[in-house]
Amino acid sequence: MIRGGNPLHGKVHISGAKNAAVAIIPAVLLVEGKCRIENIPQIKDVEAIVSILKYLGASVERPADDILEIDATGVSSYMADCEMARSMRASYYLLGALLGRFHHAHVRMPGGCDFGVRPIDLHIKGFEALGADVTIERDVVIAHAKHLFANSVYLDFPSVGATINIMLAACRTPGTTIIENAAKEPHVVDLANFLNQMGAFVRGAGTDVIRIQGVEHLGGGTYSIIPDQIEAGTYMIAVAAAGGDVVIENIIPKHMESLTAKLMEAGTIIDEMDDAIRVRSNGRLKKINLKTMPYPGFPTDLQPQMVTLLTKAEGTSVVIEGVWESRFQYVEELNRFGVDVVIADERAIIHGVEKLQGASVKATDLRAGASMIIAGLMAEGCTKVENVTHIDRGYEKLVEKLENLGASIERIHE
Ligand code: EPZ
Repeated sequence: MIRGGNPLHGKVHISGAKNAAVAIIPAVLLVEGKCRIENIPQIKDVEAIVSILKYLGASVERPADDILEIDATGVSSYMADCEMARSMRASYYLLGALLGRFHHAHVRMPGGCDFGVRPIDLHIKGFEALGADVTIERDVVIAHAKHLFANSVYLDFPSVGATINIMLAACRTPGTTIIENAAKEPHVVDLANFLNQMGAFVRGAGTDVIRIQGVEHLGGGTYSIIPDQIEAGTYMIAVAAAGGDVVIENIIPKHMESLTAKLMEAGTIIDEMDDAIRVRSNGRLKKINLKTMPYPGFPTDLQPQMVTLLTKAEGTSVVIEGVWESRFQYVEELNRFGVDVVIADERAIIHGVEKLQGASVKATDLRAGASMIIAGLMAEGCTKVENVTHIDRGYEKLVEKLENLGASIERIHE
């Protein structure tokens, strides 16, 4: 429940990156020895992937809220065909990790946010190139290989999931596997750094060609996850949208460049520091146009929040979704705030309005849920956001963090 209209002031600390954590935790399956992973975000998707690791037989300890110590040395099962795997998208990383370790993997088809069709053909193409047979039987993906071997894989699209899965399957496979047209997202680089820290030989992550020289053994070690680019971006947009002056701490400003450029173009004042960004509102925002693209382009995971911000900008903005086929489903909910957003040909046409009116809405997925909260902060009167479990999957303590910035927001149980 949000009472809108309060500008945001103060400091907010960004948690570890969800999309890095959900790749690094299953990657531990490839390691013999204890992995201490720091800066773990406290979110439902992490809880889910940790439960699956425990189900497989890994020993998991939590010496502090944001630290996990996982030892998967004793895991002997490659059967992750449990219901839990269906609750999240990232369970598909179990395929690459289990295949890389056991040459066998059974994983229940992944779920996650609904943006229409979410194929895994590029993941399968990668596993097959490394010598695996892959079939899908009654909703379970089954991958088997007598021997895995290194190969070159060209991705038709720089898919984050396929890039990560191929890295996982290849890092203990003899020879040099090359991924061309690889994804360059910060969490791809973070996984490569984690694997290298554990003894892998991955080079080129962050460029479009990644070379993975297989090693026989990965041993344990300590690693700290990067800050969450999308959580940081969500707060930057929230400040620009609700107004105020906030320092967003524990971030990598370089990861925020595409958003920073667009927010400045719209009229927000932004100052970059070494590991923080200060965001200040500066009167009514101006219209802007943008298209989402793979990194370093504008992230699709900030598209709903940005469309929401632009509902109150002066003039007509156009936002094109260039990654997912169908990521505007939330617009029906957004229009309940009395805004004017029309979807035509995979683009959102946003005619800016003077004010938003509080509404009763649903979070249709994780980032759409965050955008409903932002709309509630911008609106006059009360907003009720339902289905916030979607938001809990990916934002640590969102209500508390916004309250600390001066928002009038509370979690209610009906
Ligand atoms: C990751 O999903 C993120 N999830 C998503 O974040 C994010 O939206 C997406 O990357 C793009 O940045 C995680 O990291 C867990 P993709 P992923 O494979 O890996 C097509 C969030 O809100 N494609 O890069 O599943 C696909 O249809 C979530 O935190 C194929 O055609 O995305 C899409 O159009 C939501 N075949 C495009 O590629 C494939 O085999 C990008 O998908 C795989 C993908």
